[in-house]
Amino acid sequence: MRRRFGPSDRLRGEVTPPPDKSISHRAALFGAMCDEPVTVRNFLDAGDTRSTLGAVLSLGAGVDEREHELVIRGVGLHGAFEPTGGVLDVGNAGTLMRILPGWLAGQPGGRWTLDGDESVRRRPVGRVVEPLRAMGGEVEAREGGRPPLTVTGRSLHGARHSLPMASAQVKTCLILAGLLASGETEIVEPLPSRDHTERMLARARAPIVREGRGVRVAPTDELELDEVLVPGDPSSAAFPVAAACVVPHSRVVVRDVSLNWTRAGFLRIAERMGAVIVGEVEQPPGTGASTPDRPPGPAPAPDSEPAGDIDVRSAPLESTTVEADEVPLAIDELPLVALLGCFAEGDTVVRGAEELRVKESDRIAGVVEGLRAIGAHLEATPDGFVVHGPCPLRGGRFEARGDHRLAMLGAIAGLSSRDGVEVDGMESAEISYPGFERDLRALAGR
Ligand code: S3P
Repeated sequence: MRRRFGPSDRLRGEVTPPPDKSISHRAALFGAMCDEPVTVRNFLDAGDTRSTLGAVLSLGAGVDEREHELVIRGVGLHGAFEPTGGVLDVGNAGTLMRILPGWLAGQPGGRWTLDGDESVRRRPVGRVVEPLRAMGGEVEAREGGRPPLTVTGRSLHGARHSLPMASAQVKTCLILAGLLASGETEIVEPLPSRDHTERMLARARAPIVREGRGVRVAPTDELELDEVLVPGDPSSAAFPVAAACVVPHSRVVVRDVSLNWTRAGFLRIAERMGAVIVGEVEQPPGTGASTPDRPPGPAPAPDSEPAGDIDVRSAPLESTTVEADEVPLAIDELPLVALLGCFAEGDTVVRGAEELRVKESDRIAGVVEGLRAIGAHLEATPDGFVVHGPCPLRGGRFEARGDHRLAMLGAIAGLSSRDGVEVDGMESAEISYPGFERDLRALAGR
């Protein structure tokens, strides 16, 4: 589907982003692991999370869809069924492909194959296969460590994992395996990654302890999660936020979005580049002053998901350098840093982001070639890109490569271009942001 996004002279109004994709995946999966029904409010109804509901149904859970809420009737932590035909289809959802094996690997007697679309079949899964094997798991991938992936349930033992990369998907997979393994499992990341799993499992009374970049988990028999309220997705919200940063005279309020600090990397980068962003983003634990209710010393890691509004105004932008330590907390929004760089004075550099090459598409190539085709001056590096700003966008054709975040990037680029942008493959936005085009056109007053 090709769609044209013409230039806009300003964006005004409010937008409520779709429910968070990461939290929705986890709510459905962890709900399926509970013995008692779990109510999920504001579940994301989009391509990726539909795949997760399909998977939990195939594993024997019940899903009652009601207006504005879902009820998941789980099979318990040790009760996953073998689906008829044996294959679980994860569609385009890399998160599901990498998280689910952690739960299945520790259930002796079962055997499951996980497969998905062409894009998922190109995504590396060796990063979960190897550590699961170190816990006694029997997990096979195709040559080169790509899906399909076959899991034969075994009795697992705990292990200490020092991850080579910060990845919430890998961390979640191993935490789930740890809940079913004998003894303790510890996972240490080189840098913090999003922490929705830890928060939700702590609320489900799982034996999980967080300390700095490490998580320790002990075996348990059951999870008790009564209810999950999914906040707005900050990765989806980042598109209208970026649009408000680059279209002059804009002011956009984003309602009910997650303010979890492990998802706020892009807001911090955009602010540093000069964007005016007002909102009460959560502070990382251990920072900020102590309050009358809290004694001095590091604050305990939170287990709820903070949400609220943010107010964004356009302002002149300056270039910045994003180093490797900022990458995990802004990973899905880095394409938008390239767009901001086109409107900023000086060279904007992103380093240490080689993970972008193995997302739904090679996002370094997609961003660089896509923006170049519409007039930007930028080049790819092995682990990121350099944008030579300011390089106002002329307009033209932008190829989404079947990648939802690239499709939305092309659309925002259109609003900020001279002649407008035609995005090829706009339908992929539905993977994470149903109604994206409607929201964008409303902000542009069309
Ligand atoms: C996700 C983690 C991130 C992110 C992805 C969703 C999750 O991937 O890019 O969109 O829900 O855990 P990695 O774990 O590969 O960094």
